[in-house]
Amino acid sequence: MFPEIANEVFSRSKEALEIVSKYAHRTPLERSNTISKMVGANVYLKLENLQKTGAFKVRGALYKVYKLHQQGVKGVVAASAGNHAQGVAYGASVFGMRAVIVMPETASIAKVEATRGYGAEVVLYGAVYDDAERKAREIAEKEGLVMVHPFNDVDIMAGQATIAWEVLEQLKEIDAVIVPIGGGGLASGILSVIKKVSPKTKVIGVEPEAAPKMLTSIKEGKPVTIEPKPSLADGLVTKRPGDLTFEIVSKLIDDIVTVSEREIAHAIYILLERCKLLAEGAGAASVAALLSGKIDAKGNVVALVTGGNIDITVLHRVLIEGMCESGRVTILRGVVPDVPGSLSRVLSVIARSRGNVLEVKHLRHSPGLDPWHAVVEIIVEVPSKDVVQRMLRDLEAMGVQFNEVG
Ligand SMILES: Cc1ncc(COP(=O)(O)O)c(C=O)c1O
Repeated sequence: MFPEIANEVFSRSKEALEIVSKYAHRTPLERSNTISKMVGANVYLKLENLQKTGAFKVRGALYKVYKLHQQGVKGVVAASAGNHAQGVAYGASVFGMRAVIVMPETASIAKVEATRGYGAEVVLYGAVYDDAERKAREIAEKEGLVMVHPFNDVDIMAGQATIAWEVLEQLKEIDAVIVPIGGGGLASGILSVIKKVSPKTKVIGVEPEAAPKMLTSIKEGKPVTIEPKPSLADGLVTKRPGDLTFEIVSKLIDDIVTVSEREIAHAIYILLERCKLLAEGAGAASVAALLSGKIDAKGNVVALVTGGNIDITVLHRVLIEGMCESGRVTILRGVVPDVPGSLSRVLSVIARSRGNVLEVKHLRHSPGLDPWHAVVEIIVEVPSKDVVQRMLRDLEAMGVQFNEVG
């Protein structure tokens, strides 16, 4: 029943723990009162967003690079626009190895800079990940470097499994562990240790609705390739599980649930606002699954908050949406005469109701708009939800029609 490959991950994970403990953080496991109350179980958060490089990926990368270093390999190459890039770059710097990271040309400047900051050579190539991966293979062959796969590798899985060893030490009774699934390397590592040491603990996987590759593969009985959509949880957007990760996850996982973009955004918002924790989309997915009520959570539940590397512009969008949802911010849109003073009259009505203007868009060119009017969109922080209706009435009394659009 227990797959042979999981036995191998389990046995290597003990050595991985020695290496990872030396060069990465043993991250805290914190009980969250807020989320526990919302979910009706004792929810503990494993804070890999506080890990070196901002994500758990460094664990697998460190162990893999260590093993290659032992074998006399001089350099590694990886294709990634995300956390794997920084993990491999950091791992290579620890062992004094050369690292070449190929990123798609669309990778954010922040990620490119962070990866360079760990001493890696960054090659920008192609529009999407697949192009970068092809280029990385080419470089590996030409320059005699070893390619480090982000998940379909026993050493990578053994490195990710070190999270399970830490959690088992940090909490005696664990009823369930909630794990986000990208390619399945993390889930494979967690399952290989948890199902051996504490078989009664349930392990539940989470995928975005936009990229349910493991769930689809399990239904089909073999790894299949899907066409994923973009997701806030970009770390979980993978086309296909690995053969090795599929073998472990399909045999050992208790359940997989999917979460919507809205649920992921809500989890990022709650983690920041209520728990003061910054998580990226993939990092918030396990909390999203719990908050959505899709998991029957009982007893002590561990949610892996796997990373915190969120783009600031994405975070800004998520926060505005979250504030709109909770009634703290509203978006008003209307048409005003395009004459001097008309925008300022609108703003003074908002100020009278103690609305704090966060952003104003003033558009003179809009479909169907005549040349004497302009469209105005205003993002306003409001002291309470009922104030919005008063603002709209006062604006109407002044002769301009505004609506709440967010
Ligand atoms: C923050 C974060 N969480 C979860 C995952 C998923 O890990 P895996 O691909 O091993 O399933 C990733 C993968 O990059 C990630 O960056």
